[in-house]
This record gives sequence, structure tokens and C-alpha cells, in this order.
Amino acid sequence: MPATVVVGTQWGDEGKGKITDLLASQMDVVVRYQGGHNAGHTIVVEDETFALQLVPSGILYPHITPIIGNGVVIEPSVLLEELGVLESKNIDTSRLKISSNSHLILPFHLEIDRITERYLGKNKLGTTKRGIGPSYADKATRIGLRVQDLLDPKIFKTKLESMAKEKNAILTRVYNQLPIDTEEILHKFLDVYAPKISPMICDSVDFIHDCLNKNQNILLEGAQATFLDLDHGTYPYVTSSNPTAGGACVGSGIGPMHITRVIGIAKSYVTRVGSGPFPTELFDTTSELLVQRGHEYGTNTGRKRRCGWLDTVMLKHALRLNSLSELAITKLDVLDELETVKICTKYEINGEFTDKMPYHQSDLHHVKPVYEAFIGWKTPISEIEDFEDLPIEAKNYINRISEIIGIPVNYIGVGPKRSQVAVISN
Ligand code: GDP
Ligand code: IMO
Ligand code: MG
Repeated sequence: MPATVVVGTQWGDEGKGKITDLLASQMDVVVRYQGGHNAGHTIVVEDETFALQLVPSGILYPHITPIIGNGVVIEPSVLLEELGVLESKNIDTSRLKISSNSHLILPFHLEIDRITERYLGKNKLGTTKRGIGPSYADKATRIGLRVQDLLDPKIFKTKLESMAKEKNAILTRVYNQLPIDTEEILHKFLDVYAPKISPMICDSVDFIHDCLNKNQNILLEGAQATFLDLDHGTYPYVTSSNPTAGGACVGSGIGPMHITRVIGIAKSYVTRVGSGPFPTELFDTTSELLVQRGHEYGTNTGRKRRCGWLDTVMLKHALRLNSLSELAITKLDVLDELETVKICTKYEINGEFTDKMPYHQSDLHHVKPVYEAFIGWKTPISEIEDFEDLPIEAKNYINRISEIIGIPVNYIGVGPKRSQVAVISN
């Protein structure tokens, strides 16, 4: 009854969707365990590209049961649109199940996200403005609406009206906005969304445990990443959920003893969208090359991603936070043209060297990365299917990462397509 976690080890967009899709061929169930439509997970199958925000990345396989877990926050119109796009591409979406305990994102959550960012001015977080933080905030203060409330119009209305009372005071008096149109929300959520979403609502915990009892393989798909984690990331420049592996247990309703593998996904370099510290960030032609060769523009928001060298101080911390059993290194092909490739192995802080993440966030803003440099392979690797066939320089680079972190690298991404992965061990 094994469960596998796929977790981002950097600041997101490491290729979690692609690796989840790859592994889904050996799974029975794929559960998204946190986040919302702030995520953008890309899967490329031959010439078709799928950009998923809420639907688990296993959906493309007819044998998979995809589940949106209780830890996710759902914007129903985005979910329905996503399902519509999948259906138009002949993907069967009828197997999708949604946890009755997952929370809803309401229209004013998006508005509050936008306004609070504006009020923060130059200190803004650079959120995706999808209402993620405000929805999780309402969950934490215990006034949030859950997916199961769609099944009971009376409860939905009562909860919405009491929520609107409190929000309206802030929206109208503090932010100078119009009050919430509760009638419009009631109509959309109860008359339009509820009939479509209700058949998918289930007791996901019961379903997942039945699958575990039948010895089925479960994959727990994380969104965002370790350093965007609300507790362990670069707070406040984080998201409002727990992408780290512990969040996989909470967000799906299984205990840690069921988890047998935790696969950390790392890009062969690092990217970040939005504000916050980034020790190995580059501002030179290499950064431009990474943006261009890696198409480093957000799948979801289209924002240009900040780029920098691979940082093993971060990766080692991610190893501890997630109990990583192995790594998947993606986008190695993006480095193909470089003369020199670098890995950050330590930080220098006020003349002292450390390979640990500083606990004081101010230090992270000022650390100087210390690099190991490698000769580039300067040859295209996108067609290579076997690790042994990679150029020696690329193998040295991968082997060194594995040596520093102390766990195997089992998958290497050499291109965006499902088929473009060198599998070292499954
Ligand atoms: P996720 O959020 O972690 O699922 O990652 P995204 O889908 O947001 O971003 C990863 C991007 O890199 C997508 O455009 C993928 O198609 C692409 N990608 C994934 N793996 C590889 C790889 O090994 N090589 C290249 N060149 N592109 C990749
Ligand atoms: P996937 O799953 C990259 C970032 C935002 C912002 C911060 C907070 O595709 O890897 P939020 O809207 O969550 O309140 O924004 O988190 N962020 C992501 N960055 N990939 C993501 O998801 C992200 N989801 C949120 O850019 O800095
Ligand atoms: Mg993404």
C-alpha cells in the first residue's frame, strides 16, 4: 500500500506536472494535495500541450483516478473551464473526484488578493492574484466555505451572508470598494456550479484508504514548492499552504507510514516568480539564455521567471524538510550551450561559510553564494534516453549533485515531452 510524494524543491515550476504524468503510468490514483489555481503544471505528449491548474496531472491516463484532495482551494469556474478544455482534447474527465472538505475560492477572495497586494506597494509579495491567500485565511479563521457546502443551499447561503457582513465592512470602509453581491454569488455557485460539481464530490479520505487497502499505488502531487511553503519557505514571500511532504499527509488524509517514496523535483538551475530572496539569481547574459532556452515565463500568469544557478544549500534543506528519497533533475537540456555550468555549494555570510540555510531571513538576502564550476557539455542532449549516453560533462554535473545531496538522481529531464526523460532507476 505504497504512496509516493512528488514535491518541488525550489520555488516552483520545476516540472512536477511532467514527472507526475511520467510516474502516473505505474500508479492507480493521483491526488493533488494543496494549492489552487496558482499552480500551472505542464505536460507535453507528442505535439499536444496540457496546462493544468487544479486537475491532477494523472488525468491523461484512463486507468488513473484523479483526486482533488482536502488541502486544495478550488475556484469552480476555473475547474469547470479546465475540464472543458480537457474534454475538447478527448480526455475523459468523468473519473475526477473532489474532496468534500476542500475549500472554495469566492470572487471576493481574488479582489482582496489584488487589493492587499496594491496596498503593500513596493513590499508586495507578487502573488498570482488568484485569491489563494484570502481563501486559506478564511479556512484558518474557520469561516471558509467548503465544497460540501454546495450540497446544502441553506447552509451555503447562511455562511456566505455572515462572511459577507464581515468582509463588506473591510471592503467598503477600508478599501473603498463595492460591497459583495451575495445574490450573484448564490446564483453562480448554487445554480450554475453546484449541479456540475456535485457528482464529483466524495469522501476522498475513505476512497484513498480503500485504495491503500487494495494495495493500489497512490501518487501525491504537490503544487508550488518547498521554499514557497508557509512554514518553511522564505516567509512572507511564500504561498499560503504547505507544499512540503508533510502537507501531502494533511492535504490527502493519509498518515506518514503509508509514504514509501518522496521524489524531489529540481530544475538543473533555479527559477522564481514574484518577490523574495534568491541567493544565486543571475542578472547577466546567462540569465537571459536560461529564460530563452527554458521558456521561463509562467505557465499560469505569463510573468518572466527570475533565473539563477542550482543551489545545493537549498536542496540539502529540502532533503531534510521532505525526507527526500531521490531526486528528479529536469531541464538539463536548457544548459546545453553553456561553456561553464555552476552549482552553489555554500553561502558566505559576513566572512563565514555555511552549507545550511540561515535561520534569519535577513541573512538570506545578503549571502554570497560560493560556486563549484563545471565544464559545459556544449552538445544537444534532448534525444538521449539513457544516462550512460549523456556527455561525460553532463554526467559529472549530475553525479556531483547526487554526491552533495547524498541521494540518487533517478530521473533526468532532457526536453519538455513526456518521452524526454532519462530514467536511471524507477
Ligand atoms: P510545474 O509547475 O512544476 O509542473 O512546472 P511548469 O509546468 O510550470 O514548468 C516547467 C516547464 O518546463 C514546462 O513548460 C514544461 O513543459 C517544461 N519542462 C519540463 N521538463 C523539462 C525538461 O526536462 N526540459 C525542457 N526543456 N523543458 C521541460
Ligand atoms: P507551480 O505548482 C511558481 C508564487 C507566486 C508568489 C507566491 C505567492 O506551478 O509550481 P500565491 O498566489 O500562491 O499567493 O503567490 O508564490 N507561486 C508560484 N511560483 N510556481 C507556482 O506553482 C506558484 N504558485 C504560487 O508567484 O511569489
Ligand atoms: Mg508551474
